[in-house]
Amino acid sequence: MRPGDVIQTKRDGGELSRAQIDAFVAAAARPDGSGWEKYHLTALLMAIYLKGMTPAETAYLTWAMAESGTRLDLSDIPGPKVDKHSTGGVGDKTSLILGPLAAACGVVVPMMSGRGLGHSGGTLDKLESIPGFTVHLTETQFRVALRKVGLGMIGQTVDIAPADKTLYALRDVTATVESIPLITASILSKKLSEGISGLVMDVKCGAGAFMKTRERARALAESLVAVGTANGLHVSALVTAMDAPLGRYVGNALEVIESIETLKGNGPADLTELSVKLAARMVELAGIADGANAEKKVRAALASGAGLEVFRKCVEQQGGDPRVIDDDSRLPRATGTVPFVTGTAGYVTAIDAEKVGIAVRVLGGGRNRAEDGIDHRVGIIVRAKPGEYVTADQTLFEVHDCGSANMSRAMAILSDAYTLGEAPPSESPLVLEELA
Ligand code: URA
Repeated sequence: MRPGDVIQTKRDGGELSRAQIDAFVAAAARPDGSGWEKYHLTALLMAIYLKGMTPAETAYLTWAMAESGTRLDLSDIPGPKVDKHSTGGVGDKTSLILGPLAAACGVVVPMMSGRGLGHSGGTLDKLESIPGFTVHLTETQFRVALRKVGLGMIGQTVDIAPADKTLYALRDVTATVESIPLITASILSKKLSEGISGLVMDVKCGAGAFMKTRERARALAESLVAVGTANGLHVSALVTAMDAPLGRYVGNALEVIESIETLKGNGPADLTELSVKLAARMVELAGIADGANAEKKVRAALASGAGLEVFRKCVEQQGGDPRVIDDDSRLPRATGTVPFVTGTAGYVTAIDAEKVGIAVRVLGGGRNRAEDGIDHRVGIIVRAKPGEYVTADQTLFEVHDCGSANMSRAMAILSDAYTLGEAPPSESPLVLEELA
């Protein structure tokens, strides 16, 4: 099969056959000797970006990408296996909270997460700010963690969906990331390989998200549910607001502190509510309880401290220092804090999550390229969220810094990251849509 013919089919708006998709995915997984060059792969990616895919094509692409690597079989571990995945946001530390809560309710949570890129953070980076914590478990160690703790939090192993690694790297540099079929196949091929039966998707929508509009976010959520279901995975999806950062703490070690506080019952309302809702969906998908009962169970695990205890065990099991749970001074700390004040009084009407994420990145807390290192200590605490009033000399952002040469750049970004008004904004819901 000639690559040019496959590209032409899609370029002209046709439907790719299974054999054509197989050839494309095989070439992405193992380019040498396939007859496909990188320019063939990228031309087809662009054709897919422009012409789209039918649900059947997307479902088959997803399956083929999952089959391009190893698929974990966790059937020997007792209990229902359910994971959660977010499309990425700012201050989104829900995984650190809902994983332990769901596990405390009897769900087995084999969580494979990613690293932060651009303005959005990543679960692995947050966890690695805990001294000693490793996200690089062998498969045997991962299985032990799941049996003993009910929760394992690791990075994707190299042999999971190798086709996605090639394709994602090409999409990243060829303006083809924002394609709903390609995002769907990328996310679900990796999740199908985890050995789970259920997946809760948190599709973020708004200024700090990939999907800026409600329509696009809903379309992605629908595609994830349909394609997951077509591949035998039970998928539940929520579309949630990502205009302002979630919670108040943004930055790796700071987000661990806020997650622990939330598991202790002292978290901010938005973060607590979203974590509880997503964990309840996991409990439902696991078949442990339905609807209101699932939420009750999760709230009980929060109130009793059972979720916190699972997190403590998880940290210990993965080599981390569990003393951070009772003493957050054991986490890496910035060398100083600098207040950002507005100089005017008013109600905060908006905080731009993307700009806050970018400010953390320029301080060294995030990455421009996948291979960049990060500073776990730096970050920003949002002292006043939309709806709250600030006086002219009150701190709006508390910048946690380690003498970065980029401090003035970060401050300039922050000065553009909020709006004040004479009245509080009307309340907007955090959960915008619930699917399946
Ligand atoms: N996350 C992924 O894993 N893949 C995408 O394509 C987009 C977000």
